[in-house]
Amino acid sequence: MISSQLQIASYLFASILFILSLGGLSSQESAKKGVFYGILGMLIAVVSTVLGEGVEGYTYILAAIAVASIIGIMLARKVEMTSMPELVAILHSFVGLAAVLVGFGSYLDPITQTLTGSEHVIHLVEIFIGVFIGSITFTGSVVAWGKLRGTIRSKALVYPGRHIVNLSLLIACIVLCVLFIGAAGITGMNWLYIMTAIACFIGIMLVMAIGGADMPVVVSMLNSYSGWAAAAAGFMLGNDLLIVTGALVGSSGAILSIIMCKAMNRSFWSVIFGGFGTGPTGKVAEVEGEVTAVNHAEVAELLKNSKNIVIVPGYGMAVAKAQFPVFEMVNKLKDKGKEVRFAIHPVAGRLPGHMNVLLAEANVPYDIVLEMDEINADLPDTDTVLVIGANDIVNPGAVDDENSPIYGMPVIEVWNAKNVIVMKRTMATGYAGVQNPLFFKDNTEMLYGDAKDSVNKINALL
Ligand code: TAP
Repeated sequence: MISSQLQIASYLFASILFILSLGGLSSQESAKKGVFYGILGMLIAVVSTVLGEGVEGYTYILAAIAVASIIGIMLARKVEMTSMPELVAILHSFVGLAAVLVGFGSYLDPITQTLTGSEHVIHLVEIFIGVFIGSITFTGSVVAWGKLRGTIRSKALVYPGRHIVNLSLLIACIVLCVLFIGAAGITGMNWLYIMTAIACFIGIMLVMAIGGADMPVVVSMLNSYSGWAAAAAGFMLGNDLLIVTGALVGSSGAILSIIMCKAMNRSFWSVIFGGFGTGPTGKVAEVEGEVTAVNHAEVAELLKNSKNIVIVPGYGMAVAKAQFPVFEMVNKLKDKGKEVRFAIHPVAGRLPGHMNVLLAEANVPYDIVLEMDEINADLPDTDTVLVIGANDIVNPGAVDDENSPIYGMPVIEVWNAKNVIVMKRTMATGYAGVQNPLFFKDNTEMLYGDAKDSVNKINALL
């Protein structure tokens, strides 16, 4: 058992560690240190809370920690890098569910009933808001998990008048809040249940209304919601550290969402409200031209004859785990005096920074890894672009087809280079489910097959 002063000091120390953790995570060089600060902060937070004054039922707490730790370790060890966003989404749903359960528990807690006057009203409002945000986070994250896994279609589910429906539901929740506050004893539980059902429905509809290519923003937005849900739980439990931590997660998630929206040229509000405003109304342009396939020897020859080469990695490189042979290829080409650089799209792969993580894993030096904005201007002077398992992020429809669902999203304009080789297994579409006119362009050729296998074969020829 520790004194409340020691607990406050530990909470303060843990908060500082969380801030240092966020700071560390902002650059690749310091990311490991950032993760370490986060783990240490969380350890201190959990231990000082469990050992706090008035905590009872240690057997249950230790049993819950043991079971959850085993599940957590097993899941984290098993999860593939490409499934990371799914894991993150489902973990967000747990935070939401926890906030809902804390809200129910807090309302039924006899201490709540002993509160009077404004203190009682404020606590009830905290509970109501906490359960509301928690429910939206819970169901929204479950739908995001399904969409990222591919169990739920990634296409946006939009129906006429959906904004009116959402607004009416929001107004209904405000009315329920008033009824909840006015209810005697614990009879307000019924209003809380009805609001929970409505908020769960809102969560489902908000994420269902968001289309494939906008999913990255949804994930970061749900990350933000989960932070606010945790902060709300902190208010309900009167736990300062949970309020601070929740606010840190909530605000950093919101900042990340805004950055992602800017990177994708989407309005933050339109993503939050599920495609507010006008979406594409016409038909996606018919793709014209023919697809040309090449073999590994032809690609190796093209690379030997190119002076500068740009590699655009995408989700397929992650699936094939091709980053290691790709770096081997880069070294072989550099030995032959070629200039080789990587071009990274902000939403390449399935999680923010996905490609950077893979390339860092293969020890690719940071100075040859460029952001989309840095490389686009150089592409017209580039001899060859190798698109390795990428699709949506190099789709010209985003620039010139107003009816494309991804219209307006900035992309890596690889078609401006002299030659483009696209390595993928088939003609299948990418995550957004739209055909890619790049494959039909005169300067583009397809190298079919698994990315790792193809790169290994090219390496042998080089
Ligand atoms: P995608 O558009 O998903 O395209 C990946 C391509 O890789 C597919 O067309 C697939 O074609 C190919 N592929 C799959 N396995 C392969 C293998 N073993 N070898 C070679 N190719 C393989 O990926 P992208 O271009 O990276 O774009 C990312 C998309 O995901 C965007 O729409 C983005 O909005 C969305 N998204 C991103 C995130 C974040 S935060 N990055 C989160 C959620 C969603 P084949 O099947 O024909 O091989």
